[in-house]
Amino acid sequence: MSRMKLGVLVSGRGSNLQALLDAATDPTWPAEVALVLSNQPGVQALDRAAAAGVPAAVIDHRDVAARAAFEAALDAALRDAGVELVCLAGFMRVLSADFVARWFNRLVNIHPSLLPAFPGLDTHARAIKAGVRWSGCTVHLVRATVDQGPILIQAAVPVLPEDRPEDLAARVLTAEHRCYPRAVAWLASGRWTVVGDTVRLADPAPVSRRVHLNPVG
Ligand code: GRF
Repeated sequence: MSRMKLGVLVSGRGSNLQALLDAATDPTWPAEVALVLSNQPGVQALDRAAAAGVPAAVIDHRDVAARAAFEAALDAALRDAGVELVCLAGFMRVLSADFVARWFNRLVNIHPSLLPAFPGLDTHARAIKAGVRWSGCTVHLVRATVDQGPILIQAAVPVLPEDRPEDLAARVLTAEHRCYPRAVAWLASGRWTVVGDTVRLADPAPVSRRVHLNPVG
């Protein structure tokens, strides 16, 4: 079986990268991590790539004068590695509309909220402040607007009364690690189409798009 080649863009800890690397150890999972690119040197995500024996490189945005040049370097590295799907996994640079267009429907992101609620930064603190009872994560196709695009998969987790942002973050992160490999598997299967702002999945059990992590769900 030929597996879809993933490029994973990271900036830090890389736990979602790890989830993808772990999924790829199963030969029946339909994708493999072909390249990890970090815009930050020395981050844990690079150690994870090395431990998994996956090629990795740093393209430091501070070394590249303009965003266009930074993105051209990313694009060239991804294409050289034969990448077919780009996964943003805690990548802390906003990509231009031009880059998004070049990887249209082949660029996916994970965000730690139930989009369209709470896009952007400080997600968990904002969710707690807003008093929502549920939060979660979203894997979506990337569009030019940050944290917006057709949703592939979501998982909900409860927000508990005493939660601090770090408590909620940890609960959501567990959900992220289950959702990202599943969403990538769907994308790699090719059994999906984009209709307007939504993704239609040709799946015999569509209810599994909602990952229930908690019996109260
Ligand atoms: C995750 O919460 C992800 O949803 C967000 O950034 C965080 C990255 O964590 N985009 P990690 O680097 O994958 O551990």
